Amino acid sequence: MSESARELARKLLADKRVHSAPAARTVTARPAAAAPARAPRGPGRQFADHPEVAATVQKQAAIKAISAQSGLTNPLFLPRESPNDTVIRAADRELVNFSAYNYLGLSSHPRVVAAAKDALDRYGASASASRIVSGEIPLYGDLERRLADLYDQGDAMVTTSGYLTNAGVIGFLLREGDVAVCDSLIHGSVVSGTQWAGCRRINFRHNDPDSLRSVLKMSRGGFDRALVVLEGHYSMDGTIGRVAELAAVAREFDCAVMVDEAHSLGVLGPRGLGIREHYAMAGTDVDIWMGTLSKALGSCGGFVAADADLIGAMKASAPGVAMLTGGPAPSTIAAAAAGLDLLEAEPERVRRLWSNTRTFNDALRAHGLNLGDSQGTPIVPVIVPGELRAGFVSATLLERGVYAGAISAPAVPAGKERLRFFITSEHTGEQLRSTADLLAEVVELADRIPELSAV
Ligand SMILES: Cc1ncc(COP(=O)(O)O)c(C=O)c1O
Repeated sequence: MSESARELARKLLADKRVHSAPAARTVTARPAAAAPARAPRGPGRQFADHPEVAATVQKQAAIKAISAQSGLTNPLFLPRESPNDTVIRAADRELVNFSAYNYLGLSSHPRVVAAAKDALDRYGASASASRIVSGEIPLYGDLERRLADLYDQGDAMVTTSGYLTNAGVIGFLLREGDVAVCDSLIHGSVVSGTQWAGCRRINFRHNDPDSLRSVLKMSRGGFDRALVVLEGHYSMDGTIGRVAELAAVAREFDCAVMVDEAHSLGVLGPRGLGIREHYAMAGTDVDIWMGTLSKALGSCGGFVAADADLIGAMKASAPGVAMLTGGPAPSTIAAAAAGLDLLEAEPERVRRLWSNTRTFNDALRAHGLNLGDSQGTPIVPVIVPGELRAGFVSATLLERGVYAGAISAPAVPAGKERLRFFITSEHTGEQLRSTADLLAEVVELADRIPELSAV
């Protein structure tokens, strides 16, 4: 273990208090008269004591101080000077990169980049307005038709953001008196959608059809519309959604079903066509297929595929995805269409992705690393309990030329902190095997630092 890594461990320990999670915010309704007197915050200071703002400022200052004193590079917001490929140029050196959702290596593929450049030349950099008032360009409709066909649905809509697609679609479809019944590991954008909608949200146990059935048995009667929301491939744990079984349970209780394909399209199924292909489902087994253009397709934005009337209504009236927001930049849609061309034309990319995934998972398992509940998919969590230990492992890997992010609470439960590796079709066997060896060594070092292993 290098002296700087040792020093980092000492500093992490010394700053343990600073790193602990901020106390949960409690909201207590009180009569106005009983509100405690408080000192005025003053101009520009209204949010300085906001719990998340204050905690972030404190934490980032601590991380900065630790990096400065230990000489280790801070892995957060690492300045990068290259595309987000398997080898990146960052912090003045080359790093083997496992932090990108670029599963098929398409984001810097010459055909994807050329398509984006061509759209820039033809249509300019911005949509400059919402589609409903500023005229349609064929790029949008062409990609929407292909996505609708991919999911065997009546129509589709492309949007500027995957996050906003979940938030906007659920916000548009549900309201007070309705319920979203969500897998307990559902993405935060779905939670935002339910807050936007003002509906109730009830979780069932991750990937558990019996849990979904008992939740629906107990609660379905109390609501008007019910939407069961699932993911094809869960991004923190690398589990594959039991979408076919869960959708069938939802149908028993007269629920609509929505599936988020963010990490599934381009990854799951023999040709990478997503969870529908993986289970050979009919498109209409699910009411709303949602996905992003930002991951395997190598671009940016979101999409939703559903019944044509529903899509028509959303295109006209759903705030945040169509109404009151600009259309996606033409270059992003052209890039996504080129990404889809490559996915369809080069299925060997998907085969390579899975072959690389097996190589990496096998190597990690041979080292006895804890891969949590993951199912051997290209999302590989390596559980390193304790925020400080996970941060230590990430910073030390970076020092040794490997970039993989550490994830801690609240994104994952406390005690289940982890490093997360995204495998792509473009990693080499040598990169995968040498990273597995290095990781095993660094996790063992972290275990051997008594103070850190007690965290
Ligand atoms: C499951 C899931 N849904 C939605 C999103 C949001 O997609 P985007 O990054 O395109 O906004 C993400 C982002 O990582 C995600 O993991």
